[in-house]
Amino acid sequence: MELRKIVDLTKRPEVYSQGTGVMWTDEYISERLLEIHLNPDIELASRKSTTIDETIDWILDRIPGEGLEILDLGCGPGLYAEKLAEIRHRVTGVDFSEGSIRYARESAAKGFWRGGPYLALTESFYYEEERVTLSQHLVIGESEEVAIYRFWIHTFSPAEIEELLAVRGFRRADCYDRIIPGCEMYRYEDVTFCLATK
Ligand SMILES: C[S@@+](CC[C@H](N)C(=O)[O-])C[C@H]1O[C@@H](n2cnc3c(N)ncnc32)[C@H](O)[C@@H]1O
Repeated sequence: MELRKIVDLTKRPEVYSQGTGVMWTDEYISERLLEIHLNPDIELASRKSTTIDETIDWILDRIPGEGLEILDLGCGPGLYAEKLAEIRHRVTGVDFSEGSIRYARESAAKGFWRGGPYLALTESFYYEEERVTLSQHLVIGESEEVAIYRFWIHTFSPAEIEELLAVRGFRRADCYDRIIPGCEMYRYEDVTFCLATK
């Protein structure tokens, strides 16, 4: 290609004049874009999940109400639409990227516990004497069979940890907290790391 032609192509184009392709619908590029959309660490194509939550809260603070009719133009993989639908708003997402819409549809149909519709009843129980917390999930799918998933969390004091480890020949356990950043599930000051040597 002539150098002059390339130089011409780099000049400022007319406002809104079309390029030679559309990245959102290009088969290869749109797949890369979808990967970027779904990467929670990259705030490029879509925002991080926490930012999306804050944006949704901001919008709903200004337009309060239940069962709102929401039109999400350029919804991409439906990250906002799905969250809004989860809290019972009626959302229509529009996008011309086939891959993003396919993902949005599949993701909206899938829940955490089942690929199809289900009812999940979640409860927490605290066993004071044993210092155990149970997070229990009853999941009823289309077959109406009830599945029960239990997640037990047993807490130990530093002295108990030392005692348990000593049985296996480990020496003094040093405990450190405030190591990892907090998240929705845990406050960072409540997560303790213990270092023991043998
Ligand atoms: C920066 S992304 C944002 C996606 C989504 N709103 C989000 O924040 O996660 C822009 C989206 O608009 C879509 N889009 C751009 N131009 C469009 C058009 N003319 N018609 C339909 N969708 C379009 C793209 O496919 C892409 O999914």
